[in-house]
Amino acid sequence: MAETSDSGAFVAFERVQKSYDGETLVVKDLNLTMPKGEFLTMLGPSGSGKTTCLMMLAGFETATYGEIKLAGQPINNIPPHKRGIGMVFQNYALFPHMTVAENLSFPLEVRKMSKSAREAKIKRALGMVQMGAFAGRRPAQLSGGQQQRIALARALVFEPELVLMDEPLGALDKQLREHMQFEITRLAHDLGITTVYVTHDQTEALTMSDRVAVFNDGRIQQLAPPDQLYEEPENSFVAQFIGENNTLEGVIKSISGNTCEVQLDGGEVISARPVNVTEVGQRTRVSIRPERVEMDKSRLQEGAHTLKAEVLEFVYMGDIFRTRLRVAGNTDFVMKTRNAPDQVRLQKGQQIEIGWLPDDCRALDA
Ligand SMILES: Nc1ncnc2c1ncn2[C@@H]1O[C@H](COP(=O)(O)OP(=O)(O)OP(=O)(O)O)[C@@H](O)[C@H]1O
Ligand SMILES: [Mg+2]
Repeated sequence: MAETSDSGAFVAFERVQKSYDGETLVVKDLNLTMPKGEFLTMLGPSGSGKTTCLMMLAGFETATYGEIKLAGQPINNIPPHKRGIGMVFQNYALFPHMTVAENLSFPLEVRKMSKSAREAKIKRALGMVQMGAFAGRRPAQLSGGQQQRIALARALVFEPELVLMDEPLGALDKQLREHMQFEITRLAHDLGITTVYVTHDQTEALTMSDRVAVFNDGRIQQLAPPDQLYEEPENSFVAQFIGENNTLEGVIKSISGNTCEVQLDGGEVISARPVNVTEVGQRTRVSIRPERVEMDKSRLQEGAHTLKAEVLEFVYMGDIFRTRLRVAGNTDFVMKTRNAPDQVRLQKGQQIEIGWLPDDCRALDA
């Protein structure tokens, strides 16, 4: 498994489908390739098929259709323990009757490693997660975060080329979570490990990953680096799921090239970038990020459409102001403005005019 295939893909899902009951597909035609060393996160709501994909890659579930390859080799018929994959799961408990060192020794004994080689590897793995002083303790004598570190060390101790992690930080408090997020990405990059990480926490996905696969209903909705996912969502699901987003509904009035006109349900007309709309008359949801909403007309293109807005709430948040507006019938429209010295503070009930650059306004599926 040391070499990558000619195509460069280290992990490949090819047209993979999965059904548990022989009727419903919980994974539908999954195509995904990862280069060696990539940190990829599967992000999506509960039940969207993330764990199922990981289980198929690990070998605990078989694909109903399609092929999964590691370093160019099909692995459908290779049992889990022969795939050389390290795993950390939220409920993948440590062996309670064994010490930390014995827990780490286990995957090495399975691989028939000598005692002296095992001791060296265990020492190194515990050092990596800064748990060198805890080798003699049992899991019950460790905090949740420490147990999670040991689980991580156990997944890394045999120096796998591929590591799978399924919500490994779900049980930890916020501070420890953020610390472990940093530790995991650092270790993965330092050791050149290819990682598939599963979470339903979008901040975690955006901050840790080289690329994120957004899952919904058994399909990848978009696979892209974090900034692209946030800036250029390809459909309404991704726009809503990643980050805060404003939506206005309407009908496509005209399309030409990179611009379209949308008649909002309230009657107003705005310009947008047509993303996955194709026809005049089609219903659409336009999506605008709160930080791209402008009330300073000098920052808009000449002739840009503006909309009337009523201030419903103005919240001082230190670095930014968060204003909730009524816009074209939507009472949940959010504008975020930077707290600059010349920035006006708005009053509830105040009438303002807002706009944005057409490129920051994406016409997506309804
Ligand atoms: N062993 C199983 N037998 C039958 N159905 C299953 C099994 N495991 C999962 N499913 C179903 O497959 C679908 C996908 O489940 P999966 O566990 O992959 O989702 P997930 O994205 O990991 O969700 P979560 O975020 O809640 O962990 C769900 O509808 C689930 O009920
Ligand atoms: Mg899951």
